[in-house]
Amino acid sequence: MTPLRQLAEDHNFLLTAAAKAVGMDDPVAFEPSGFQYALLDNSVRGAFVPIADVLIRDWGRHWPKFYPGMNFGARIYTTKGIRFIRVSALAHGETPHHAYDFFVVDRADYSQLFRLVNVYQRTSKPAGLPPVLTPEIFTTLRQNTLDFLNPKNLKRIKDLGGRPKRGLLLTGPPGNGKTSACRWILEQCTTLGYETKQVSPDDYRAARTGCNPAAAVKELFSVTSRGVVFFDDMDLALRNRDAADQPEDQAVFLGAMDGIDIHEGVVYIFTTNLPVDRIDPAFKRPGRIDLVLPFPKPDTTLRRVLLDRWHADVRAGLGDLERIVADTDDFSFAEIEELKNLLVLRFLETGEWDWAWARHQFATFRQDLATTRNKPIGFGTISNTNGHLSMAN
Ligand SMILES: Nc1ncnc2c1ncn2[C@@H]1O[C@H](COP(=O)(O)OP(=O)(O)O)[C@@H](O)[C@H]1O
Ligand SMILES: [Mg+2]
Repeated sequence: MTPLRQLAEDHNFLLTAAAKAVGMDDPVAFEPSGFQYALLDNSVRGAFVPIADVLIRDWGRHWPKFYPGMNFGARIYTTKGIRFIRVSALAHGETPHHAYDFFVVDRADYSQLFRLVNVYQRTSKPAGLPPVLTPEIFTTLRQNTLDFLNPKNLKRIKDLGGRPKRGLLLTGPPGNGKTSACRWILEQCTTLGYETKQVSPDDYRAARTGCNPAAAVKELFSVTSRGVVFFDDMDLALRNRDAADQPEDQAVFLGAMDGIDIHEGVVYIFTTNLPVDRIDPAFKRPGRIDLVLPFPKPDTTLRRVLLDRWHADVRAGLGDLERIVADTDDFSFAEIEELKNLLVLRFLETGEWDWAWARHQFATFRQDLATTRNKPIGFGTISNTNGHLSMAN
């Protein structure tokens, strides 16, 4: 039998068995593609249904709303009274394929569901703004993540023998947009229908201390289709070997990064507050990290852009914004936002937009923190601010 015939036969088998199991008379298979998130975001998850008596639950918990919670079987969903099912038969470990992972709806409901999903897509809340970045950094970030994962781009890369894998490292002192940038990319991926996965330091720690660290850490790096894996605040894993308490950390980590099977294309984004010179050189090797993007404290231009985003009432209340731009030299974005927060709270109390008060209050707060703790957290002045990182590649 030709591979195509085999595929068609398998698909038909799955479709027929699933429809029979849930009592659907005239099933139509579909792939919601970019509409998947709008569809699932507005649907209620229902019962699992075995296919040919097989149901394999999947305990992976990333994005529970969007993953079916099984890798072989079917699951019923409903939206506005329309029932549809997700069929997934990926347990054979082959590359995910729409013939083995698809949605089904009764023909009688097909048009209605299609119309509904279009409405969901149109009315879903607009994606948030990206953090304030220099145009150069913003473009580089977008090109190396969202544009990189564009199917046409990935195809070209593969055709030309390139590696459909990219590693980005976002560095810089706290409060300058590393996590915000990740959040923005994640939202964009969701809209585009790309897979995303967030790995927290706790996830990483748990994987590393489990009974099979190499396999568990490798699992953190894998995506089933095309997507981005976020490793936010990975100081622990990236720290220079000489300084690390547990030198085996990096070996497992780097091994996992190298040994991953890539199905379509993947981007890894790591963030850290560590200055670049404290990061393990083995990690920064091309092929692991292709690009280091600096997130320094804002200069005057970026501070102006940030203030321009403030509510019109705040801006009008403050009057001379240039004074505030000048007055926030060496502040992080987060600190400037905190000043705005103080201003707003004060305004609600007194009806005045009192910049001097907010500034004073902020300084007091900062002082308190500095004297009550050894480590400056959040508002501390970090001496090794790294505004001058060079970009690799
Ligand atoms: N570049 C930026 N543009 C706009 N707001 C920012 C920026 N960087 C930080 N902020 C503000 O500070 C908060 C904390 O920033 P975050 O992205 O978590 O910093 P980091 O991850 O670099 O420590 C954000 O929620 C946002 O309000
Ligand atoms: Mg962060």
